[in-house]
Amino acid sequence: MIDIEGIPADLEKGLLPSHVFNDPQIHRLELERLFTRAWCFLGHESEIPANGDYVVRTIGEDPFILVRDEKGVVRVLLDACRHRGTRVCRVEKGNASNFRCPYHGWTYSNSGDLVGAPAINTAYRGLDRSKWGLIPAARVESVHGLVFASLDEAAPPLEDYLGGMKWYLDLIFGLSSGGLEVVGEPNRFVLDANWKIGADNFSGDDYHTVFLHKSMWDVGTITIPPVANMQGYHVHAGPGHSVTFSVAGDPDEPGPTFWGYDPAVVETFDPANVTPEQFELARRSRITVGTVFPNLSFIVAPLTEDSTKPPTGLISLRQWQPRGAGRMEIWNWVLVWKGVSQEIKERAYASSIGTFGPAGLFEQDDTEPWQSITQMSGTQYGRAIGMKLNYQMGHEPSGIGFVKEIKDFPGPGKVYAPRYEEGVQLNFYRRWAAYLNGEA
Ligand code: FES
Ligand SMILES: [Fe+2]
Repeated sequence: MIDIEGIPADLEKGLLPSHVFNDPQIHRLELERLFTRAWCFLGHESEIPANGDYVVRTIGEDPFILVRDEKGVVRVLLDACRHRGTRVCRVEKGNASNFRCPYHGWTYSNSGDLVGAPAINTAYRGLDRSKWGLIPAARVESVHGLVFASLDEAAPPLEDYLGGMKWYLDLIFGLSSGGLEVVGEPNRFVLDANWKIGADNFSGDDYHTVFLHKSMWDVGTITIPPVANMQGYHVHAGPGHSVTFSVAGDPDEPGPTFWGYDPAVVETFDPANVTPEQFELARRSRITVGTVFPNLSFIVAPLTEDSTKPPTGLISLRQWQPRGAGRMEIWNWVLVWKGVSQEIKERAYASSIGTFGPAGLFEQDDTEPWQSITQMSGTQYGRAIGMKLNYQMGHEPSGIGFVKEIKDFPGPGKVYAPRYEEGVQLNFYRRWAAYLNGEA
């Protein structure tokens, strides 16, 4: 039996029931009440640059075609034939003017219109083709080339949904007028772990880095000293959206600035694209990690693919797609700034794949405990006794913080320092519980 209503009260005490990471009923509720209503990330516009380009993605567990139609409009179409429901798109990526169903041959244009069917005039009388096109996602919007869709016609505009998170996305994704592009294919793999664990980790679990990832420091993949790396800010940026910044304590402290990007990359950053406060925070940033509710995360960090080379700045998008109660598909995109040299792009790609790809050094560390959490979450005894997990770091159990709240921070949201704080995760779970309770 699930007690969704009781979860908000637990969260106010910094507690989370342990069974939420492996519960078929919660998984069902997430598909019904969360993924059908939130704004979910589909892909980057640079993945479909030409008219007719498409990729197949999912919202929750539902397949959608992300396609640029003949007029250049980006569309998100449910990959299900209107005749019997067969999937009409059989490869994950390509360029097509039409999608033809393999079962009986109904054919749809790349804007989703039903354009024909075999023997249409003999088999059908008066079929109104305009009523039988592929079903589009209710809403599609993009920000900095990141395409999001919501299946809820009544969803707020994307900018309202992001709230204060938009300010942080601007300073991460909007610095260069040329913008970003995806390099290579997004890589993905299936893991026996619940999707929320990845979203939780990227909301700001800096605490695990110096312990679980200690070997990354030992081999020189990351060079910011571990204790210094806990300096910075935890930002409850908007409803459910959290971001964490590792920054130097003193504005002029040496160390990576602009996430360790090569000077040739930093030269492309135009202060006019953001406010002076955003530009200064970007300048001081060493590592930034965040989660856009529900399941898109990002990391901007100075890492190296080869410990004989200095770290290079990279930016990766991560997505945690549910595939059953105790399983997810992890997606990983590498983004590079357009207009920089091929060498810089290749280094960023290699560094990202070597750390957060399927066999990446960080990924190998993280995925083991994530599977273990999921396994534990399904245990009978924990459920029977109502086992709760501790999310109280930085706050009294009453919810009052003893980490310092930074009142004069230039960006929106509630901001805390240092980064020994777990309110960023509670921010995620409050929003999650609100959706499951039908409130958000
Ligand atoms: S199921 Fe697609 S044409 Fe029949
Ligand atoms: Fe990690």
